[in-house]
Amino acid sequence: MSFKIALIYGDGVGPEVIKAALEVLEALDFDAEYVEVKAGYEYWRRTGKPMEDGALDVIRSCRCVLKGPLMTPPGTDSYRSVTVMLRQTLDLYANVRPFKSFGKASKKIDMVIVRENTEDLYSGIEYRLGSTAITLRVVSERASKRIARFAFELAKREGRRKVAVVHKANVMKESCGLFRSAFFEVAKLYPEIQAEEIVVDSAAYRIVVAPETLDVLVTPNMFGDILSDVAAGVVGSLGLAPSANIGDGYAMFEPVHGTAPDIAGKGVANPIASILSAAMMLSYLGDAKRARAIEVAVDELIAEGRVLTPDMGGTAKTVDVAREVARRAREALTSFR
Ligand code: NAI
Repeated sequence: MSFKIALIYGDGVGPEVIKAALEVLEALDFDAEYVEVKAGYEYWRRTGKPMEDGALDVIRSCRCVLKGPLMTPPGTDSYRSVTVMLRQTLDLYANVRPFKSFGKASKKIDMVIVRENTEDLYSGIEYRLGSTAITLRVVSERASKRIARFAFELAKREGRRKVAVVHKANVMKESCGLFRSAFFEVAKLYPEIQAEEIVVDSAAYRIVVAPETLDVLVTPNMFGDILSDVAAGVVGSLGLAPSANIGDGYAMFEPVHGTAPDIAGKGVANPIASILSAAMMLSYLGDAKRARAIEVAVDELIAEGRVLTPDMGGTAKTVDVAREVARRAREALTSFR
């Protein structure tokens, strides 16, 4: 079956890493029709629009989106994050970010951050009152319960044993308090899975010193954003961390990292995060074999340590890693047959 997939190459290193992911999908003879959607900061600078006209209709007509990172410079100009807008408009409420140790890593890390993707301080409700700036932290019972349910369902599906809610309810008694109580209410429906709570600062520490003790973490938007980069550092590089934005009936797949302006255009960005995001897309589309083939290929590549980009201590280029993962994934797929 051919899948129609919307493709957003992104800004900065985006086109380099998304092309790498496409090379791997092609090597696996994945049957897809890609529809490019132009969007992002560079597009906005050229045209004054964050996305091309009709972009949302095109995206909705596809099965899902494969996306590179999009730049959002700080400051108060009229440009706002297209990534956040897509997550909110398409109601992709669950941002799933798995972190695994690869190759011969000393610690066995296998945790998933499930980040609420539509609310919190990213609500976009901000204003100035004289010389004071205010950003509203919006946390609803509906969104908190559905993300908790999503986290428990994920744990059940993947045979995981623990789900921890990460919060700061000791200080933010209303917003985090609601998120926390919604979690424990949902937890009652899953007696077979251990429900825990971790205060966010303590969670940051545990991700660094004892990541192997963590399983599924469910957390509001901003904590999830920050903790993900901490976890990416612990597994070795932001260039290794994939993600899925999932809603009811639609999804968007992208690396956790940003546009990496410091290395954009140099051909050295690590494409593994995007390649693994493509693997998450394959799983979502029901193609577990091809997804597994990519994971096996990445694991082997890292264990061997010969073809790695500079962020992982190597000297390889983005295209070298893409070619090598593509070759190994193809071999792995053949061996499954
Ligand atoms: P960043 O993630 O782009 O870069 C942080 C550091 O990680 C840099 O040193 C960079 O070189 C390195 N890095 C990132 N990806 C890498 C890769 N694939 N291979 C090797 N090294 C990699 O974060 P930064 O600099 O804070 O953000 C840059 C821009 O990206 C901002 O405009 C931000 O808004 C945007 N951004 C977009 C995201 C998205 O579209 N989902 C997510 C995060 C940031």
